[in-house]
Amino acid sequence: MLSEQSAATVRATLPAVGANLGEITDRFYTGLFAAHPELLRDLFNRGNQAAGTQRQALAGSIAAFATHLLDHPDQRPDAMLGRIAHKHASLGVRPEQYAVVHEHLFAAIVDVLGEAVTPEVAAAWTEVYWLMANALIAIERRLYEESGTAEWRTWEVVERVAETEDVVTFRLRPLDGGPVRGFRAGQYVSVRVGLPDGARQIRQYSLSGAPDSGALRQISVKRVPGDATTPEGEVSNHLHAHVRVGDALELSEPYGDLVLDGGEDTPLLLASAGIGVTPIVAMLGRLAETGHRAPVTVVHGDRSPAHHALRAEHEAYAGKLPQAPVHFWYESQAPEGTARTGLVDLTDVTVPAGTHAYLCGPLPFMRAVRGQLIEKGVAAADIHYEVFGPDLWLAGA
Ligand SMILES: Cc1cc2nc3c(=O)[nH]c(=O)nc-3n(C[C@H](O)[C@H](O)[C@H](O)COP(=O)(O)OP(=O)(O)OC[C@H]3O[C@@H](n4cnc5c(N)ncnc54)[C@H](O)[C@@H]3O)c2cc1C
Ligand code: HEM
Repeated sequence: MLSEQSAATVRATLPAVGANLGEITDRFYTGLFAAHPELLRDLFNRGNQAAGTQRQALAGSIAAFATHLLDHPDQRPDAMLGRIAHKHASLGVRPEQYAVVHEHLFAAIVDVLGEAVTPEVAAAWTEVYWLMANALIAIERRLYEESGTAEWRTWEVVERVAETEDVVTFRLRPLDGGPVRGFRAGQYVSVRVGLPDGARQIRQYSLSGAPDSGALRQISVKRVPGDATTPEGEVSNHLHAHVRVGDALELSEPYGDLVLDGGEDTPLLLASAGIGVTPIVAMLGRLAETGHRAPVTVVHGDRSPAHHALRAEHEAYAGKLPQAPVHFWYESQAPEGTARTGLVDLTDVTVPAGTHAYLCGPLPFMRAVRGQLIEKGVAAADIHYEVFGPDLWLAGA
């Protein structure tokens, strides 16, 4: 909890910090990467940095955390902290790195707000920072303990399957032959690859096989194309172009908090679009294994049936469940009778009372589905989602 004197100062300065977040963030990253170029090369996503898409997530989440502390002094925003900590753990973030971030973040705040940063203001925001940092460090420590390691492990590609024209599945086995820890359906691993210029870049990929896949891990990667204004995605294209059976990949342990909750009597709705199908198929596989009794409504949208990765598994797992109506929408070439043409639209879909929903796909898709579910009476707290990029919803975007 924030001390009383700091709470008043944070309340008074929050608007100024919020209004200058963009500039504070820019100066923060410029200073951080000038002092520690290795962090941009080998830890942060340099594509997001170049495009500016991730930049506000970190500072924005501190402002969101401060707002939460002021509005609900007795509660910790566990959902927000958990999501960040899972991401950090998958990246191997270490406790001592928090002092480095603190140094550069505060230098940026002083730079931008100038004399407004009196000793009281600095002390109050330092308190906010360390409340959040220490909470994250504690959750990350627990996550590392549960995984048994914070180290990267080398895996060999034992199978490579072309799912669609732009999605490839890699099945992997640990090179050391050691045991493979189980995971919860919906979780992801970080994959670290060495690139031709010597950089090592990290991206997250959801485990797309059912959790019973034995000593194997499976990820399905969509190639991110470039166009006239943006370069092609670095890691997805590297994996597609260069990683074959027999090659090695470095993986983190599985992390992620978009996992199934509730018991076998909870009705579920699993909605995906495009490559967002990966964690959803893993969840469906898990439910098929355990013979989930309550209805499971399966919803997916894609460009066409030929673009629908893991479609055979999607249908087969649903088919194994006693009550799992399937609703697929394709923008074109929808097979008559079994799928509809257009974007996902839940108007005619029955959503049983008490449904818990899990969503994964592009943000406009998730916004639309979330809105439709709320209209149908699903509680906002029962709608869970995964964003395949920086989660700017965390920062209130
Ligand atoms: C929890 C989680 C789970 C995920 N699961 C999956 C999954 O199962 N399957 C999957 O395929 N993906 C998944 N992703 C997405 C994945 O992690 C990567 O983000 C994706 O593969 C793109 O990475 P990339 O290196 O190819 O692209 P990046 O190099 O990261 O580029 C991303 C975008 O930024 C643009 N960009 C890069 N540089 C610039 C620049 N200088 N100027 C302007 N724009 C630029 C690129 O054009 C591209 O559109 C997941 C992400 C998360 C967070
Ligand atoms: C209190 C301090 C910190 C806060 C509030 C914070 C917050 C965040 C947030 C909100 C995200 C985005 C999560 C998402 O994608 O859903 C993120 C991602 C990330 N964080 Fe932190 N973070 C902190 C400290 C650190 C530290 C110490 C490091 C290591 C130097 C670090 C490295 C990263 C990296 C590498 C990412 C992924 C972004 C990318 O790849 O570009 N963070 N953090």
